[in-house]
Amino acid sequence: MEIVTTKEAVRAAVREWRRQGESVGLVPTMGYLHAGHASLMRRARAENGRVVASVFVNPMQFGPAEDLDSYPRDPERDAALCAEMGVDLLFRPDPAEMYGRDFRSYVDVSGLTEGLCGRSRPVHFRGVCTVVCKLMGIVRPDRAYFGQKDAQQLAVVRRMAEDLDLGVQVVGCPIVREPDGLAMSSRNTYLSAEERQAALVLSRAVRHGRELAESGERDAAAVAGAMRAIIEREPLARVDYVEVVDARTIRPQTELKRPVLGAVAVFIGRTRLIDNFILE
Ligand code: PAF
Repeated sequence: MEIVTTKEAVRAAVREWRRQGESVGLVPTMGYLHAGHASLMRRARAENGRVVASVFVNPMQFGPAEDLDSYPRDPERDAALCAEMGVDLLFRPDPAEMYGRDFRSYVDVSGLTEGLCGRSRPVHFRGVCTVVCKLMGIVRPDRAYFGQKDAQQLAVVRRMAEDLDLGVQVVGCPIVREPDGLAMSSRNTYLSAEERQAALVLSRAVRHGRELAESGERDAAAVAGAMRAIIEREPLARVDYVEVVDARTIRPQTELKRPVLGAVAVFIGRTRLIDNFILE
């Protein structure tokens, strides 16, 4: 596996692969990789001749009061995992390489980004879309891989790729969970032992919501209310949102209809965690 830090080095490698007729998969990440990221790389490895992974903690998608400075980093372990998963090229730019000196252009996806995570993180999706659009422009992959844990991000990136004719197939991959149900997240590392235990309310709420929806409950508010009740019983948890929305458009549902996304965001202490279910 080659590790590069410049866009030019990525372009040169991809040019050569294209000359050889290879297809290219992209796995964009912010590092501190876990089994969820590994599952994206495995899928990319299986579906493409060559795989590029990026590790870039993107300042543009963090709000001023968020955890950009404390976001966990472990470049050596990340590189080892990428190599183990069969990544061909690891792209690790710094912010100056990524954004240059006079950056002025932003990608906004309207309608899908104002609700759910966008409500408490107003600049987040603009930052995500701008950097993902840039990564797609640098790598020009056939396919790009995103985890379903960030279900709104997945819907937003899909919309962007289609609207802007980026020519990239956006592939969503299932949530990977710890044995006790907690969805894998780089931010789980912030949790104390007691908080780690309390964080299980997210997956418990999501599982119950899914069961209700699968067993024929059609009242979206009833499903959301049942999930909220589970979370509110945990003293260390504070609900940011619990919502049932259309999984493609992120519009709230009153009558539950597939594709449906039941999504929760919860503060456990100071750590904000998300989880969800999707019924296609
Ligand atoms: O999901 C993430 O880790 C990030 O939002 C992404 C897609 C790598 C963009 O910075």
